[in-house]
Amino acid sequence: VSNVADVKKALGTAAVDRFVHDGMSVGLGTGTTAVWVTRRIAERLREGSLQSVRAVATSLQTELEARTAGVPLFTLNDAALGGELDITIDGADEIDPAGNLIKGGGGALLREKVAAYASRRLLIIADESKLSQRLGASFAIPVEIVLDALRPVVRRVQEMGGSAVLREGARKAGPVVTDLGNLLLDVTFKDPFDPPAMEDGLKSIPGVLESGLFTKKKPDLLIGLRDGRLDYRER
Ligand code: 5RP
Repeated sequence: VSNVADVKKALGTAAVDRFVHDGMSVGLGTGTTAVWVTRRIAERLREGSLQSVRAVATSLQTELEARTAGVPLFTLNDAALGGELDITIDGADEIDPAGNLIKGGGGALLREKVAAYASRRLLIIADESKLSQRLGASFAIPVEIVLDALRPVVRRVQEMGGSAVLREGARKAGPVVTDLGNLLLDVTFKDPFDPPAMEDGLKSIPGVLESGLFTKKKPDLLIGLRDGRLDYRER
């Protein structure tokens, strides 16, 4: 039995070694699993066993990690990328049997979704604790909203049968402000919901920028099992 920290490192390392090749454009995810992707790419670039990778960071955390480690960073607006990525490798908070995801535990869901949906391939790396029979069973849906819409969005979520809690900062008074200057609601529903319909429903509320439901871009999965094996499931 491996500890979760070792599994996360093994996942990020294996994802790069198996799926990132010379000349590729790569979306770098956010969180304690995805950080190992950035670190492995940096290591391989230094060794010279990987060349000409162009990366796009999905958060300030990842950007700092990549810049410090010397991974060449671009944005999706750079002409060199043409608005598209070969692959994005990211973590997840919950994964259902159909490959629908909840993401955004780290508050980076908006930039993560832009990168994920702009990628030819989305690879999600996660330890098996993230697998769930039903989305929302163990994790709230993070929703990024503009400040002006806070009360109207909370009301609308209640009308939809849910409840919404403003995410508060840790070691900072007041709400979490995202990398893009917005607020986060953590939204829960008592009753089971249809993930694609809920992604559309939340997105249709004025003032909602994105939710952490990822249902429109089916990922390939690399799952770290407790016994240390990595299980690859292609969509
Ligand atoms: C950040 C995310 C992360 O990918 C997700 O929270 C998983 O993080 P970790 O690998 O640290 O468990 O969506 O917004």
